[in-house]
Amino acid sequence: MASHSLYFLLSFLSVSYVTLLSESRTTLKLNKFVLSVHQDDKTSLYVADIYKRTPPLQIPFVVDLNGRLLWVTCEKNYFSSTYRVPQYHSTQCARAGAHYCHTCSSKARPGCHNNTCGLMSMNPVTGLSAMGELAQDVLSIHSTRGSNLGPLVKIPQFLFTCAPSLLLQTVLPGNVQGVVGLGHSPISLSTQLVSYFRLSNFTSTLALCLSTNGVIFFGGSPYYMYPGIDISSPLGYTPLIISPQGEYYIQVKSIKINNKDVPLNATLLSVNGRGVGGTKLSTINPYTILQHSIFKSVTEFFTKELSDIPLVKPVEPFGVCFNLKSINKRSRVGPRVPNIDLVLHDQHVVWRIFGSNFVVEAVPGVSCLAFVDGGLNTRASIVIGAYQMENNLLQFDLARLRLGFSSSLMFFKTSCNNFNFTALP
Ligand SMILES: *[C@@H]1O[C@H](CO)[C@@H](O)[C@H](O)[C@H]1NC(C)=O
Ligand SMILES: *[C@@H]1O[C@H](CO)[C@@H](O)[C@H](O)[C@H]1NC(C)=O
Ligand SMILES: *[C@@H]1O[C@H](CO)[C@@H](O)[C@H](O)[C@H]1NC(C)=O
Ligand SMILES: *[C@@H]1O[C@H](CO)[C@@H](O)[C@H](O)[C@H]1NC(C)=O
Repeated sequence: MASHSLYFLLSFLSVSYVTLLSESRTTLKLNKFVLSVHQDDKTSLYVADIYKRTPPLQIPFVVDLNGRLLWVTCEKNYFSSTYRVPQYHSTQCARAGAHYCHTCSSKARPGCHNNTCGLMSMNPVTGLSAMGELAQDVLSIHSTRGSNLGPLVKIPQFLFTCAPSLLLQTVLPGNVQGVVGLGHSPISLSTQLVSYFRLSNFTSTLALCLSTNGVIFFGGSPYYMYPGIDISSPLGYTPLIISPQGEYYIQVKSIKINNKDVPLNATLLSVNGRGVGGTKLSTINPYTILQHSIFKSVTEFFTKELSDIPLVKPVEPFGVCFNLKSINKRSRVGPRVPNIDLVLHDQHVVWRIFGSNFVVEAVPGVSCLAFVDGGLNTRASIVIGAYQMENNLLQFDLARLRLGFSSSLMFFKTSCNNFNFTALP
């Protein structure tokens, strides 16, 4: 009789254990997250509103694809019941790679404590860096099933830095409070999401779909855009190369215009031992930047292929401009001009760029090639900028280190503006 009730008790315990387990499985099913990003009119930078602190507050951040961490200014109006500072030599400091002991001589406040650890934070537009206090607070982000917003989920101890407000300067959009880094670094937003939710290899993925009102996904496909199109199928793939600074590079082996090879210095196209050369992707540069000799070859070649269209005086910062009226025949993917192909690691893997991603109306009536001369001493020879990435899905697979790319979503009759941000319970 006694053993019978023990058995009953055990089976009751195991039932509730299974219930608990399946509940935690349900939470684990939240394996995809989403941020809405909009483009700032004045600076062309992308801004994401992120929920931080307790009670939660939506704070605007500039999105830096290659940024190492999230930094925010804490000097004014930082009210949160969950702000914590890891002590110098703590595991959090080790995880963040912060080996500098931070002290502060003013009154204690968020960003100002003694015996904490300091970490450099950078304004990616000016390159200016400053020391900030490593801190922890709640960060909340919307889950998604691939379309619509699901419940907000909390990361209770998100690591970031409290940077001095001098880093904000005027070059960043007016209301912005900091920068959110998505780089391949220990405490970037992408890395902390992957490790907190223990996302499996399949889902440790960051996907950018940039446009005026675009979207960033964390987690694997599918990603649905109105009217119900999964924009992740099909994609082309090329290896991702991670620089020592945790920045995202790809290998561009050659460039073709109208299916003809543009003569280029191959040395410049590959990254050398000192991390110079190669092709980087960046959300901070509004337009693609080409090292001077590549810029000259590409623009001269393009002009030759466009011989029947009269050039006009170039508008800064561009080098080649023409009369919009002469190319006003448009297709779905922008003006009818020759395509530009980036030939990647394999000659059969090509990122085709259509006019909508490289012809920009610089002033009314004048269209320009959206490439900027980077001069002779660029670190990366090609920096693929935001205009060229717009309305393309770019899926950074952080486990397999490969980049999936869709080319222009206009071909799928959709765009990155078409994510449905209506919240579902
Ligand atoms: C840090 O220590 C110094 C020296 O002991 C002290 O003057 C200062 O007020 C302390 N700062 C804070 C934020 O407690
Ligand atoms: C190609 O670029 C490399 C690196 O800038 C330079 O040293 C070399 O002289 C260039 N080659 C030619 C043929 O211009
Ligand atoms: C996950 O990724 C790591 C590192 O790339 C690899 O070593 C491991 O085999 C992968 N695991 C699975 C299940 O694919
Ligand atoms: C967005 O999603 C909501 C909720 O599912 C739906 O009612 C609405 O029709 C959707 N909007 C569009 C434009 O598809």
